[in-house]
Amino acid sequence: MKAKSPDESRAETTVLMMPPDANPMGNVFGGVILKHVDLIAGIVAKRHAGHGNIVTATMDRMTFMRPVFIGNALVLSARINYVRRSSMEVEVTVDSENFDEGARVRTGTAFVTLVALDKRGKATEVPQLLLKTKEENKRFEDGKKRMERRLHEAGKL
Ligand SMILES: CC(C)(COP(=O)(O)OP(=O)(O)OC[C@H]1O[C@@H](n2cnc3c(N)ncnc32)[C@H](O)[C@@H]1OP(=O)(O)O)[C@@H](O)C(=O)NCCC(=O)NCCS
Repeated sequence: MKAKSPDESRAETTVLMMPPDANPMGNVFGGVILKHVDLIAGIVAKRHAGHGNIVTATMDRMTFMRPVFIGNALVLSARINYVRRSSMEVEVTVDSENFDEGARVRTGTAFVTLVALDKRGKATEVPQLLLKTKEENKRFEDGKKRMERRLHEAGKL
């Protein structure tokens, strides 16, 4: 399987927050934001894997640092940091864009672990990461440490 660079699977999306996404005071629900985090992480993992059914195994803790309101846009940016055999760590940053003020602020960052499954539902190998830059290597090493911690916490290492 040919290795792929992180740039080949990167994704960005902008989603306008509407009234059904929020509570009566206009604050967007955390669950709505997490849904979009999960969706974009899945797109990155699917692009990287190129095959298989992609499922989410874990989502690391996410702190909502600032409120997002109806009428703001969620701007999500996602990239793959680390690959084991069938599992992938995707980092998603979430910004909130206020059109009236022309301002964009970081509201959170999440690390999502996704696994590629074959037709029988068994974990299946995905391409390794082709790392070219110092930054990509650093992200990979940091991702490896986080994955080892996750697996340790889950009693799988
Ligand atoms: C994710 C899932 C496939 C793992 O199943 P499993 O029986 O542990 O499978 P395996 O032992 O073969 O492990 C498969 C991969 O998952 C990884 N994995 C399993 N549990 C993990 C955890 N808690 N954190 C990180 N990775 C994990 C393993 O390390 C392995 O990765 P590798 O092949 O890169 O080494 C299984 O728990 C599952 O199907 N969960 C439900 C997923 C789901 O429905 N998500 C929400 C909707 S998409």
